Amino acid sequence: MKIDRFLAKHDSLGRRRARQRIVAGRVHVNGMAETRIDREVNRFCLVEMDHIAIQKPERRLHLMLNKPVGVVSATVDAQHRTVIDLIDDPDKASLHLVGRLDRNTSGLVLLTNDGTWSKALMAPSRKVPKVYLVETRDPIPPEAVAAFAQGFYFHTEDLTTLPAALEILAERRARLTLHEGRYHQVKRMFHRTGNRVTALHRERIGGIALPEGLAPGDWRVLTNLEIMNP
Ligand code: URA
Repeated sequence: MKIDRFLAKHDSLGRRRARQRIVAGRVHVNGMAETRIDREVNRFCLVEMDHIAIQKPERRLHLMLNKPVGVVSATVDAQHRTVIDLIDDPDKASLHLVGRLDRNTSGLVLLTNDGTWSKALMAPSRKVPKVYLVETRDPIPPEAVAAFAQGFYFHTEDLTTLPAALEILAERRARLTLHEGRYHQVKRMFHRTGNRVTALHRERIGGIALPEGLAPGDWRVLTNLEIMNP
């Protein structure tokens, strides 16, 4: 929201008086005088007028979690443990998930309370790569590489999946990179080749990789570099 609109609501100041105070240098954002009436502010900004805080900033949170199998990617669930149950932070109730994993999938889950950040990361136009380790019931034939690169037509959504990079690591083990995230996408793609996924683990989302030292069930705050270059 622009700062003039934000201030207009405060004490029923109104847009005209809000603008006058901004231009007069009476408003500070994050400790700096702000004289632009079109400055964007959000709930993470400290906003002061005449050096009195009229909005205290909320704490911005960006976390990664190594989701174990059996835990659900949801904030509440009547039956199962959720990713939120694994987090020990006083502000965890403000978090939302940046993309989900199935209950029987393990690996990297991102959580944040910053909707602008998560929206930008998940925007379909960005085609952020998501990397999965896959184990299958049957051997993966070399022809599967071309089939995944070509894409599969999904009837329910009436679409063809984007080219996906399949790297065969062993007879029944592969690394798969997707640039989209459709419902049960990895499992459905393997199903289309007549195979079955027996284990699925997400290793990476864009520039954020699950570190080796982060055990299943553990989480940590993202580094500034990870937040800035996801
Ligand atoms: N694809 C799946 O089938 N399941 C997941 O959890 C993630 C991607």
